[in-house]
Amino acid sequence: EKQNLILAFESSCDETSVAVVADGQTILSNVIATQINSHKRFGGVVPEVASRHHIEEITICIEDALKEANVTYDDLDAVAVTYGPGLVGALLVGVNAAKTVAYAHHLPLIPVNHMAGHIYAARFVKPFEFPLMALLVSGGHTELVYMQADGQFEIIGETRDDAAGEAYDKIGRVLGVPYPAGKVIDEMAHQGQDTFNFPRAMIDEDNYDFSFSGLKSAFINTVHHADQIGETLDKNDLAASFQASVVDVLMSKTLRVLKEYPVKQLVLAGGVAANHGLRERLQAELPTKFPNTELLLAPLKLCGDNGAMIGAAGYIQYQHHQFGDASLNADPSLEF
Ligand code: KG4
Ligand code: ZN
Repeated sequence: EKQNLILAFESSCDETSVAVVADGQTILSNVIATQINSHKRFGGVVPEVASRHHIEEITICIEDALKEANVTYDDLDAVAVTYGPGLVGALLVGVNAAKTVAYAHHLPLIPVNHMAGHIYAARFVKPFEFPLMALLVSGGHTELVYMQADGQFEIIGETRDDAAGEAYDKIGRVLGVPYPAGKVIDEMAHQGQDTFNFPRAMIDEDNYDFSFSGLKSAFINTVHHADQIGETLDKNDLAASFQASVVDVLMSKTLRVLKEYPVKQLVLAGGVAANHGLRERLQAELPTKFPNTELLLAPLKLCGDNGAMIGAAGYIQYQHHQFGDASLNADPSLEF
């Protein structure tokens, strides 16, 4: 029987990505053109620079994705695209490319929420079973999301200030680690010890919300104070101490939410889901504390922004006939 083939676009931030996904579960191609080198010197993503890169890369990504998947436009069943949240100019490039392909080749258009895409990256591991809880940790979001069915997202807790990834990137600047700092700080953390014992914000509070800006300030103050008195601090220990605080808080809130919301599966997704410290703690603690909850870690290569995850979410929407039309617009502050 013929496979369902979706051409999926992602351009919400600093990666231009186009993928071909078969039956929502097999990645035939997942081309990712990263712009990180262009943004590094600014210490973060510059929206105008991002839009221009997306425009330059998008048609090449489409060609490469089709070629790598060994398919043509005629083989496709639908086009899926991230339409928010993200940078408006960046999103618009993907949305317009997807609309053009859909119109030119008479294909249905599937508008996908970027954060839903992150969650559905874990569907490449296994089909979802509901109810499900997702710990969604990225550069812009830190949320506990409860799902009773496909496409139903209920935010149970979220950050009140910085997202986890944002905190990594901000303390990265202080350590001289280029943007995006998460991966390098994760590696440094594994070489160090939690000697600074930074605050674990809201860890004992009876809610499912997070806060990372106090940790960020404590970190920056510690480094600046040491600078002023001419003391040199061990960067690996600083990284390990920061990461221990982030992971402790994420773990504690996640384990607490699972008591009130028993679920069949816990999904870890988003850019920060690539964090080894966090993955290891969940793997170590979830099976003993919640033996009836299966852990689905988004595959390492699919934690960051990519088109395949949009194809996975798009496939579910395709089955539910959730289509958009030519009036589809980018929605930079799209919520679940
Ligand atoms: O999901 P993502 O690719 O983009 C957004 O939608 O925001 O997440 C990017 C974020 C960045 O802040 C980056 O520093 C962080 O994910 N990140 C990590 C790791 N790898 C990427 N944070 C902690 N540990 C990592 N290994
Ligand atoms: Zn993302």
